[in-house]
Parts: sequence; C-alpha cells; structure tokens
Amino acid sequence: MNIFNIPLIIATQYSLAFTYLGTQDLVSLIHPALAVILVFPIIGIVSNFAWQTRQRRLQIKDSKKSKIPPVVGREHVKLGRWLATSVVGVNLIGLAYSIVYKNFILSFKKDNLDTVQAILITLLFIATIASFIMLFRAQSKLWRGIFATLSGMGLIILGAQEGVWRLSDQWYWSHYYYGMGVSLLMIFSLAIVEDIYKDRSNRWRNAHIILNCFALLLFIGQGITGVRDLLEIPPIGK
Ligand code: HEM
Ligand code: HEM
Repeated sequence: MNIFNIPLIIATQYSLAFTYLGTQDLVSLIHPALAVILVFPIIGIVSNFAWQTRQRRLQIKDSKKSKIPPVVGREHVKLGRWLATSVVGVNLIGLAYSIVYKNFILSFKKDNLDTVQAILITLLFIATIASFIMLFRAQSKLWRGIFATLSGMGLIILGAQEGVWRLSDQWYWSHYYYGMGVSLLMIFSLAIVEDIYKDRSNRWRNAHIILNCFALLLFIGQGITGVRDLLEIPPIGK
C-alpha cells in the first residue's frame, strides 16, 4: 500500500465515532460548533459592554455623572479583540474545510491535484494568520492599515478558491458573503481602535457604531444561513 494514502484514508473514512458520520462529517462540524460555543456568546458580551459604554458616555455628557463603572469601555475593547480573533479564526476553519475536502482531496482522488497551487494556498493561509497577528502588534496608523488590508485580502483570495461554496447568484442570503462581510468589519474595528480614542469629533466612534450594528445583523444572518447550510449542503453534496 502507498504510504501517502494513509492520511487520505483517515481523512475520508466512512465511519469514525458515530454510526452514520465519517471523518469528513466530523471535521465539517468543527466550524459550526466553534461558532456556536465561542463566537456567539462573545457577541452577546461585547454588545452588552457596547451598550453600557454608550450609556455611560451620554450620561456623563448630560449630567456629568453615571452609575456605570468607567471600566466598561476597556472591557468592550478587550472582548472585542477576542471577538475579532474568533470570527476570523472560525472563518479560516470554514474555508480550510471546504478547500481541503472539496478541492485538494477530490483532485487528489482524480489524480489531478496541482501540488504547486496547493502549496501556495497553504502558504496564503499562513500569511493571512501572520498578518492578522501583526495587526495586533502594529502601533502606527500606516502599519495597522497595511496589516488590516493584508489580512482582509488573504481572506478574500482564500474565499475565491475552488471548493468554497459561495452561492454567488443568491448573494443576498449567502453564508459565505455574510461571513466575509463580518470578518472584514471585525478587522476594520481592530484597525481603528486608536482612532476612536483619539478623535474628539466622534466621527470614527459613530462610524464604528453604524458599521458594527450592521455587523450584528450579519451575525444573525450567519446563524440562520449556517444552520440552513448544515441541512442543505450534505444531501446535495455541494
Ligand atoms: C458586535 C460588535 C460591536 C458592536 C455592536 C460595537 C459597538 C460599540 C458601541 C455602541 C460603542 C460605544 C460608542 C459610544 O461611546 O457611543 C463602542 C465603542 C468602542 N468599540 Fe465597539 N462594537 C463592536 C465591536 C468592537 C470591536 C471588535 C472592537 C475592536 C477591538 C471595538 C472597539 C471599540 C472601541 C475602541 C470603542 C471605544 C470604547 C471607549 O470609549 O472606551 N468594538 N462599540
Ligand atoms: C461568525 C460566524 C460565522 C462565520 C464568520 C462563518 C463563515 C463561514 C465561511 C467563510 C464558510 C465557507 C464557505 C463555504 O464553503 O460554504 C462557512 C461555511 C459553513 N458554515 Fe459558517 N460561519 C459562521 C457561523 C456558522 C454557524 C453558526 C453555522 C451553523 C450552525 C455555520 C455553518 C456552516 C456550514 C454548514 C458551512 C459549509 C461547509 C461546507 O461547505 O460543507 N457557520 N462559514
């Protein structure tokens, strides 16, 4: 037996821990499970702190005092960073699953896997993660802009690969487009943190509120389109 076939057999075997689920099914559940366990609870906490941050700021502006502790703003940003990281992470896991199973492994079975392309795509995953990590470390406005653009571009190029289910002709309820939208909005929020604090005219703050209220709608859409895809994709085998 060819030794290189062993990982392939494990990755595509029919039955693993459950009677009717194989390795591929279990791997496909990592993405939705993490979204439900990690991302959605953090969205709730971040939104609660966002509301308190705003209430506190408006109360102090009106009556110079507020019962809401000053720490809510910092807590919002701290958990906002976790939210952005978990959304981008879950997005990359969703893309990796689709690209590995519906592109690499399918092509390998048909003996037409383009190895150079597969290596380049793997390197792009690494470059996207590296740019996202650098976005946290960058201090100056220029570098934050550069790393935010690189992370966003990495996600978009990975999303354009063969195997990703985009539902482009029905983009208005596509899980892919909503997911890319929220991920880019999270990356943008990370990039403008310092601008929100520095800007006395509150223009960045207001832009942040409008964009992220839209992100909240997209998150709701992700919940709906995600569970729909769980039902819709397996029987059709997209
Ligand atoms: C669900 C997503 C989010 C929503 C709905 C949201 C909404 C808000 C709201 C309503 C405020 C208060 C604005 C005011 O003072 O009137 C705020 C403040 C802020 N947000 Fe977010 N936000 C979200 C995610 C994020 C993320 C991912 C980051 C980046 C780490 C972030 C960074 C900030 C910063 C720096 C402030 C200013 C905090 C302060 O004044 O101390 N937000 N956000
Ligand atoms: C923040 C939340 C989420 C983001 C950013 C996100 C993003 C993505 C992306 C970019 C893909 C790849 C597109 C594709 O190939 O279909 C995907 C696929 C998928 N997602 Fe999500 N998603 C999120 C939440 C969820 C939730 C809550 C569920 C279900 C409970 C879910 C279920 C799925 C399914 C079933 C697929 C298709 C996998 C396949 O191609 O077989 N997602 N997601």
